[in-house]
Amino acid sequence: MRLVRSVAELRIAVRTLREGGKRIGFVPTMGFLHEGHASLIRQSTARCGATVVSIFVNPTQFGPNEDLAKYPRDLEGDQNLCLRMGVDLLFLPEVPEIYPTGFSTTVEPGRLAEPLCGQFRPGHFRGVATVVAKLFHMVEPDLAFFGQKDLQQTAVIRRMVRDLDMPVEVIVVPTVREAGGLALSSRNAYLSTEERQRACGISQGLFAADAAYRAGERHPERLVALALERIRPISSVQYCEVVDLQDMQPLLRPVDRPAALVTAAFVGSTRLIDNVILGQGPDLHESGTG
Ligand code: PAJ
Repeated sequence: MRLVRSVAELRIAVRTLREGGKRIGFVPTMGFLHEGHASLIRQSTARCGATVVSIFVNPTQFGPNEDLAKYPRDLEGDQNLCLRMGVDLLFLPEVPEIYPTGFSTTVEPGRLAEPLCGQFRPGHFRGVATVVAKLFHMVEPDLAFFGQKDLQQTAVIRRMVRDLDMPVEVIVVPTVREAGGLALSSRNAYLSTEERQRACGISQGLFAADAAYRAGERHPERLVALALERIRPISSVQYCEVVDLQDMQPLLRPVDRPAALVTAAFVGSTRLIDNVILGQGPDLHESGTG
């Protein structure tokens, strides 16, 4: 596995990997890698001749009062995981490599970034779209892998790729969960043992609503109410909504198209997000959000 820190080195290394017509798979991350990231990497190594992983804690997607400074890091553990998983190239840029002095051009994702997390994290998706666009230009991957865990992020990126004609196929990989249902996240590191147990109420709420959906319930407000029965007692809820899977806009009428139930909630001081695609069931391992 090669480690590179500059864009210039990255481009040369990718060019070498591509020789012989290999497909390049790309997994962008912010590090502190866990089984969720590993699942993305596994998909990439299975489908591509070479896999590139980036680790960059992107400052522009954090708000002024968010956890940028204390975001968990474990470079040694991350490198070992990538090595074990057969990653070919690990890109570890520092902030000035990505945002040189005078940086001023951004990608504005528009209405997909307005509801849900966009409402509570102004500018977050601009930061995500901008850094992912830059990373795509640097790596020029054939396929790029993203987790369903960050559902709105996948919608924003798919839209950007279509709108800006980026020659990359976006693959969405199902959420990896702990045995109790909690979606794996680097931010779970902030939870105490007791909070971690409580946090399972989030996925339990989503699964309960999904079970009702599969039994025929189609009213967004009833599905949301069912989820909140379990989520509200264990957390402080920021949003919990049924949304159109394509454009992330809230569905106010009975669900008649592919939809997801999405939520963000604070367990203690830790903000967690999770979602289910309605009708898919909790343990369906099929990927793709359409
Ligand atoms: P990060 O939170 O490190 O996540 C990197 C990728 O791993 C994302 O596509 C995310 O959806 C996926 N992921 C996280 N937890 C997962 C889980 N439990 N199951 C499956 N996939 C999971 O998302 C980011 O970084 C950043 O916004 C980034 C795209 C790198 C841009 O800075």
